Amino acid sequence: MRPSSSYLLVVSFLALFTVAPATDPATESKKPVMCPSSAPQCGPGYYQPEEYNATPNLGYNKLFELQHHFFQRFVYPNNTVEAESINSAIFADNVIGRVSDTRVFKGRELNTEYIFGLFVKQPYASVIGLPLSYEILAFTGNQNIASASTRVQINFPSFPDNRTLPVTVNTWLTFDSNLQITQYDVTFRWFANLMQMLLLSLDPKNPVNATAIAQKTIANAVCTQHNIYCKGKNLQYKSTDDCMEFLTKGVRMGQSFELGDNTLLCRNVHMSMLKYRPDEHCSHIGPTGGGMCIDNYTYESKVNEVVFTNSPWIPDGTSPHHYHGLSSNNPK
Ligand SMILES: *[C@@H]1O[C@H](CO)[C@@H](O)[C@H](O)[C@H]1NC(C)=O
Ligand SMILES: *[C@@H]1O[C@H](CO)[C@@H](O)[C@H](O)[C@H]1NC(C)=O
Ligand SMILES: *[C@@H]1O[C@H](CO)[C@@H](O)[C@H](O)[C@H]1NC(C)=O
Ligand SMILES: *[C@@H]1O[C@H](CO)[C@@H](O)[C@H](O)[C@H]1NC(C)=O
Repeated sequence: MRPSSSYLLVVSFLALFTVAPATDPATESKKPVMCPSSAPQCGPGYYQPEEYNATPNLGYNKLFELQHHFFQRFVYPNNTVEAESINSAIFADNVIGRVSDTRVFKGRELNTEYIFGLFVKQPYASVIGLPLSYEILAFTGNQNIASASTRVQINFPSFPDNRTLPVTVNTWLTFDSNLQITQYDVTFRWFANLMQMLLLSLDPKNPVNATAIAQKTIANAVCTQHNIYCKGKNLQYKSTDDCMEFLTKGVRMGQSFELGDNTLLCRNVHMSMLKYRPDEHCSHIGPTGGGMCIDNYTYESKVNEVVFTNSPWIPDGTSPHHYHGLSSNNPK
């Protein structure tokens, strides 16, 4: 009895040494995240081909669950928690995303800011609202690709009557074997109608005045945030007057599809990012637009732009064309 139990003790003691390191959670969480070789940010030591799969066959139910999970984190106040995580685990490190009417966003930190940090409670007037609940209206999933149309109830506290309005969001997502989003393409459906209605609500009888009110209110919000967060080398405007002058006269308000162009509305989107990383975002609200609020797209270059390189948008698609998806040059 005795020899055998001490033998067991020795064996389990040894086992502790041999097994423990492999299952140590600290080691597990440090496991490098792999990205496909097509992604430029994949350096040496990043790649774990035997474990990682950019196009896993996740099955319909898992994809539906992941789609729900995304929206559960997107609604307020869950999105605040996600934004504060800085690098949301929902996204793969090398995630590439595009949002209609704005632009392309690359990398986990930036996407955590734009997807979760943008739709949180704002201290100043903004055209962006708070998503309160969602309802998936249409869904299909295949391999690692999920496509959905979702109605989100968004509260707009900066507009009269504190209205909550339905907004339809169409999404295409791809997931990797870590169940993280590697790509998203998001379209806000009928966004132009929504913007027009919201802006007009500021003075329903006088559209010109309504626009003027919006312009002044948004410029004021951008300048206030600039004064709080953009100091020293991040300073964009010499004074509040300079800031107001530029934002109301030096740049156009922008149409609903110009939230990624050289417009006041683009700077409205980016002002909410200042508190996360002033170094990164201050230039976006400044006169130069910092590469985010600039007029560098034509209609055609937008439509033809090849954005997505992490995963094909067609199940089992292998040709480079299938990677481009959703907006690529026709390779014929
Ligand atoms: C917020 O997240 C929790 C936990 O994931 C979830 O149970 C809840 O439903 C989410 N809220 C909404 C409104 O979806
Ligand atoms: C505005 O509406 C939202 C959503 O219904 C509510 O949570 C919030 O308290 C309201 N704010 C005010 C100032 O009434
Ligand atoms: C809009 O119209 C109101 C009167 O209805 C006026 O008081 C206000 O100054 C106007 N605002 C702008 C920005 O023109
Ligand atoms: C516009 O600028 C962005 C970044 O500043 C760049 O990634 C993109 O390729 C440019 N697009 C065009 C069509 O010039």
